[in-house]
Amino acid sequence: MASRQTRQMHLNVFLMGAGHHEAAWRLPGSRPLEVTRASYYLELLRTAERGKLDSLFLADSYALPPTIQYKVLQSLEPFTLLSALAMGTSRIGLIGTASTTYSHPYHVARQFASLDHISEGRAAWNIVTSTNDATGYNFTGERLPEHGERYRRAEEFVEVVRRLWDSWEDEAVLADRERGIYADPARIHPIHHRGESFAVRGPLNLPRPPQGQPVRVQAGASEAGKAFAARLAEVVFTAQSSLADAQAFYTDVKSRLAQAGRTQDELKILPGFCPIIGDTEAEAKEREQELHRHIQLDYGVQRLSNLFQADMSVYPLDEPVPVDWLAERAEVNGHRGRYALYVDLARRERLTMRELILRTASSRGHFAMAGTPAQIADEMERWWRQGGADGFNVMPPYLPDGLSDFVDKVVPELQSRGLFRSDYTGTTLREHYGLARPLAGRAGASGVEGRGVAGAAGDAGVADDAQGAAVTVRSIGRGEGEPAR
Ligand SMILES: Cc1cc2nc3c(=O)[nH]c(=O)nc-3n(C[C@H](O)[C@H](O)[C@H](O)COP(=O)(O)O)c2cc1C
Repeated sequence: MASRQTRQMHLNVFLMGAGHHEAAWRLPGSRPLEVTRASYYLELLRTAERGKLDSLFLADSYALPPTIQYKVLQSLEPFTLLSALAMGTSRIGLIGTASTTYSHPYHVARQFASLDHISEGRAAWNIVTSTNDATGYNFTGERLPEHGERYRRAEEFVEVVRRLWDSWEDEAVLADRERGIYADPARIHPIHHRGESFAVRGPLNLPRPPQGQPVRVQAGASEAGKAFAARLAEVVFTAQSSLADAQAFYTDVKSRLAQAGRTQDELKILPGFCPIIGDTEAEAKEREQELHRHIQLDYGVQRLSNLFQADMSVYPLDEPVPVDWLAERAEVNGHRGRYALYVDLARRERLTMRELILRTASSRGHFAMAGTPAQIADEMERWWRQGGADGFNVMPPYLPDGLSDFVDKVVPELQSRGLFRSDYTGTTLREHYGLARPLAGRAGASGVEGRGVAGAAGDAGVADDAQGAAVTVRSIGRGEGEPAR
């Protein structure tokens, strides 16, 4: 493994509406009416690409947030938007979100394969299981399936998607004009999957993606979520409110990799980082205060009620958060990791309801700080050097300035310290993250190309039996498709 001296941090930008701070859209300079325009995101993404960032992440859900009265929307359909962004950029990775609870693996395999082809190797899938009942009501008319059931389905879903991506060998397209042969059918294999949730014959109706398989991103923080990540994710986003918490999460998830037959470098952990940047500390703090002055407490109460799945308006704003009561019912069927994070934060710092609302308004529990570019770079360096992060999921609290200030002021600071690349050295997202390109596992072939990681146990593969039917030669991670918990 490369040492900390020779390695560099990875930076993803997580764009949301007018910025992650919930009041950002109310400030002059924000462009809330443009959040449904591709040109707005393209402008932001070109800024991020100028800063040589690894990737862009767009979150998604399939329901209107109940807080729409107060919060700027972010719901352009991700594949439509990412395809448009792919055409206006050339290097930066494009991470889209798709739910394993409310999609079908054939569709998702095809969507990400298409995005990978369109972007020439820059696609990644943020694998989510969905966290709110509103989505369930839009798809099945029912509430969300139970937490464990969602993760079991997700495991099978990901296995099917990966096998579909691998259903074309890299050499399947011949485009041989002379012989009049476009593709070699002997190199295209059905997958014949029959499992608990899906029956998919395959093959995919699209050649293997340029990256072999688009990169897999995930963000669950519950026990089931972490087990899933250790087996299947290549990049993990996580919300941590302090370095100590980030270190504990990092050690926990990384320590699970060996059991899944994976090396430490095969999974990158990127905590969220929400910087409010000023040329002086006073300027940064004043900007933070200005954002906070525009917070609407009604919205904050709604936000907490959604997360805690209880009517939090019954608790007075200046009374302590009812942490004991919340802790007793922490096994909610939604966003378990975030629930625990808020309860821990409120308990540790003895917060009132009002204080919890303010503390989580910038970044919903992700680490947030206001400071100069050097102070921000110091903090990022500390987390990175002290085993809390392989890089960061940078969450500009206000747009567009929060991103351009990061790129023009913080990135050069990181570059001058040798902590971040000064130019792209690869063209694909896998190359930016130092992740190997998976081989389409033919019988006897396993492992990965490029970065020389031997025998990647994470590679699914198919091979023909004598009759030409595809059989699994290697199942994902722990083997034999066994569920994560
Ligand atoms: C940075 C970050 C981004 C996320 N993006 C999405 C998203 O776009 N859509 C979604 O449904 N869930 C999203 N989630 C939620 C996670 O995918 C996951 O469902 C959640 O953390 C609950 O999992 P857990 O119960 O294992 O903690 C995100 C979480 C984090 C920390």
